[in-house]
Amino acid sequence: MTNATISIRALALAALVAGPALGQSATPMPGGHMHGADGTGHDMVTMPGLRGLDASAQESGELQFMFMNFPGLNREVELLEDGIRTYTWSDDPALAAVLVSHVAAMTTRVEEGRDPQVFVQSPTLDILFARTGAVVTEIETTESGIWVTQTSADPEVVAALQTHAGEVSDMAKRGMEAVHEMMMQRASAAN
Ligand code: HEM
Repeated sequence: MTNATISIRALALAALVAGPALGQSATPMPGGHMHGADGTGHDMVTMPGLRGLDASAQESGELQFMFMNFPGLNREVELLEDGIRTYTWSDDPALAAVLVSHVAAMTTRVEEGRDPQVFVQSPTLDILFARTGAVVTEIETTESGIWVTQTSADPEVVAALQTHAGEVSDMAKRGMEAVHEMMMQRASAAN
């Protein structure tokens, strides 16, 4: 087991322990608040597209929490020759805790090749899950967020890391609107 793996697991645990912080911000975690479905599939309350074939309720709930509170997210991205260095943060402690938990869980999944297959998930991630071991991840938390450095010796993986970092920035800036737009662009490119 690498040091990175150990620290990611420790962080995931820390984020779980920090769980009681959840619910302190303006928009509560999902569960028990079910109205709002309009039958179009664009249900901004239950967000069914955030479920996945192998995603836990906690993982989908964390995605929903970030999308519902995305205006509170800040982000900076630096492209490296062999990867990315990002800092993502929030002044809202509950949102910061969910963000850290998401990153810890997802980067561990990438290391282990366990694709959550979330319905709205970007296909940019496919290569990261297919080429297990190709990404080296280092994460460091601060009081309000998380630094992520990811590098690879595989140029195609580097390209995917950089594209994905841009997609994360777009989701942090525009929330679900960014996801819908990416899906529409892919659908029209496929026709
Ligand atoms: C507001 C929405 C979201 C935010 C703020 C967010 C945030 C992040 C951040 C900060 C990272 C670390 C990599 C980087 O900094 O570029 C990350 C990685 C990841 N996210 Fe998200 N994310 C969001 C939505 C999603 C969605 C919808 C999925 C679908 C499953 C997802 C899956 C992943 C995966 C698999 C990784 C690991 C990628 C890797 O190790 O290279 N995220 N996310």
